[in-house]
Amino acid sequence: MTIWLSIIALAIALLLLFGFQRVYTPRQTSLEGIESPEAVQAYDRISRWPQFGMLRRMVVRELKRHRPGGTIVDVGCGPGYLVTLIAQSFPYLKIIGIDISEEMMQTAKRNLTNQGFGERVEFRRGDAGNMSLSDASVDFVISSLSLHHWSFPKMVLLEIHRVLKPSGQFLIFDLRRDSLRGFYWLLHFAKNVVLPSAMRHINEPVNSVLSSYTASEIRELLSLTQFAKTGITPGFGWMFIWGQKS
Ligand SMILES: C[S@@+](CC[C@H](N)C(=O)[O-])C[C@H]1O[C@@H](n2cnc3c(N)ncnc32)[C@H](O)[C@@H]1O
Repeated sequence: MTIWLSIIALAIALLLLFGFQRVYTPRQTSLEGIESPEAVQAYDRISRWPQFGMLRRMVVRELKRHRPGGTIVDVGCGPGYLVTLIAQSFPYLKIIGIDISEEMMQTAKRNLTNQGFGERVEFRRGDAGNMSLSDASVDFVISSLSLHHWSFPKMVLLEIHRVLKPSGQFLIFDLRRDSLRGFYWLLHFAKNVVLPSAMRHINEPVNSVLSSYTASEIRELLSLTQFAKTGITPGFGWMFIWGQKS
């Protein structure tokens, strides 16, 4: 009993001493698309866990603040669970899910079969930097946990600007590399103890945070675009990036 209390006290002391420091580390690159069937299956499985559900609800809460209407595109939609939640939360929206990975696309299509959304929801395989959408044809672009995979994020922001209608908006949710050390510990624990081995083999989710951006890097990227308004809302391990076309 005394040993356990000492271990817990030591863990709390370490957390208080070091866990609230921000991590500053060079960015690593990530795989552009998740294609390996094992990794896609593992990601599909963990996406149904309550922790991921909580993250999606947080994204939808933020989305509600921006009052989306018309057509929304989810870029890097993965297995399609955010598309489902958006379709349920905004019954008047048309939703297009885009992903570069054929394996993810097929998984998303399977996951949304028989959900009754009909023609309101559509999936297309495509690259975020070169979407098969006409100029000024979309009202809103959303993306969750995909930005850190993009090889050319500036190109994607320019592409988002191209496809948005005047006054159209985008909202990107992603991890931030300058997270608190405690958040890194949590991700290491998840990788080594909690997640399926297929995720451990691709060093996820640690790779994701190491390949994500800092708020100041994003600010610099946004300054290279023509959005009329932009904003960044940082959290302790993630951030929301928002912009509006003139
Ligand atoms: C970590 S998953 C996130 C999936 C989903 N948005 C979510 O929040 O669970 C990242 C997704 O982005 C996709 N992706 C990566 N680079 C992309 C690109 N350039 N264009 C489109 N999709 C991309 C990957 O294939 C993968 O499905």
